[in-house]
Amino acid sequence: MKTRIIGTGSYLPKRIMTNRDLERLVETTESWILERTGIRERRIADEREAASDLAVHAARQSLEMSGIDEKDLDLIIVATATPDMFFPSTACIVQDRIGARQAAAFDLSAACSGFLFALSVADQYIRNGVYRQVLIIGSEVMSRIIDWTDRNTCVLFGDGAGAAVLQRTQGEHGVLSSHLHSDGRLWSLIQVPGGGSRIPPSPAMLAERKPYIKMKGNETFKVAVRTLEEAVHETLKAAHVQPSELSLLIPHQANIRIILAVAQRLGLPMEKVMLNVERYGNTSAASIPIALDEAVRGGRVNEGDLLLFEAFGAGLTWGSALVRW
Ligand code: UT7
Repeated sequence: MKTRIIGTGSYLPKRIMTNRDLERLVETTESWILERTGIRERRIADEREAASDLAVHAARQSLEMSGIDEKDLDLIIVATATPDMFFPSTACIVQDRIGARQAAAFDLSAACSGFLFALSVADQYIRNGVYRQVLIIGSEVMSRIIDWTDRNTCVLFGDGAGAAVLQRTQGEHGVLSSHLHSDGRLWSLIQVPGGGSRIPPSPAMLAERKPYIKMKGNETFKVAVRTLEEAVHETLKAAHVQPSELSLLIPHQANIRIILAVAQRLGLPMEKVMLNVERYGNTSAASIPIALDEAVRGGRVNEGDLLLFEAFGAGLTWGSALVRW
């Protein structure tokens, strides 16, 4: 028994924020951002759009491609670091909006690795025979937790959502292997310190800019390249696949230099790497499913292809998964 991806969808808010726009907000330059990150522009959600709104658009597209009726979904997992609210879960709000009455629904917190964690969790349920059809979504409104006065972070992130419908299948196609990792010792490298139970909302915490992302970018960068290379090899080894057999690498789109370093270590030519970091920046848990959806709709994925996903994020969390399309 395997888990097959039978539908994908994505949604990007209309508003585009360019590097030039950021030059007007913080002490930065268009060329610094492009050279150090590969990002030219990112999307910013409308002030009325929350994570569930973006998620619903992506979910509807993925359901349409899958041909599945929403009422036949058994489970909905939303991976997000920017839920609509503490509770109820964003997944329950999505469930209501799409009318998936039979489904259980919950959110999953693994920051930028969230979609891979959701894929792996859903894969366990499906392979164990518990559920037949699962909707997984990565949805983020990062613009709400960005400190627009901090040039170290505000140039990096963007908003968006991506979704995939998974179905139990027999045979060769589907998730061949997935591997997740966490190292909580490094939790402080990327964090939103305020707004939770440790530092609850107060005028002082707002004045100290605590409800916004803080990141030690350079340290994170080094750990990311090392751990992603290890995770990718682990997944390939478990599936007895050589890097040269891969059809497409679909990496988390955090920074072009991280993506290039991992591709280079795998010996993969760049035409086998899906890239959209230039247009959307780092959309956290949404980045892999958006890139997957663009690859599928753009005709870059054919039946039988071997796709490798890899992601890295706060926690620290990281992982990889291999899928036969
Ligand atoms: O997806 C979740 C995981 N997150 C990541 O994967 C992010 C990983 N990290 C990165 O992508 C990179 O570390 C950054 C893009 C965040 C930064 O690039 P870097 O090459 O590691 O630069 P740095 O942090 O070492 O900073 C170099 C210099 C510093 O100036 P000094 O101290 O050398 O004078 C920064 O203050 O660049 C400065 N700097 C900027 N300059 C212009 C930092 N941000 C900016 C900016 N514009 N926006």
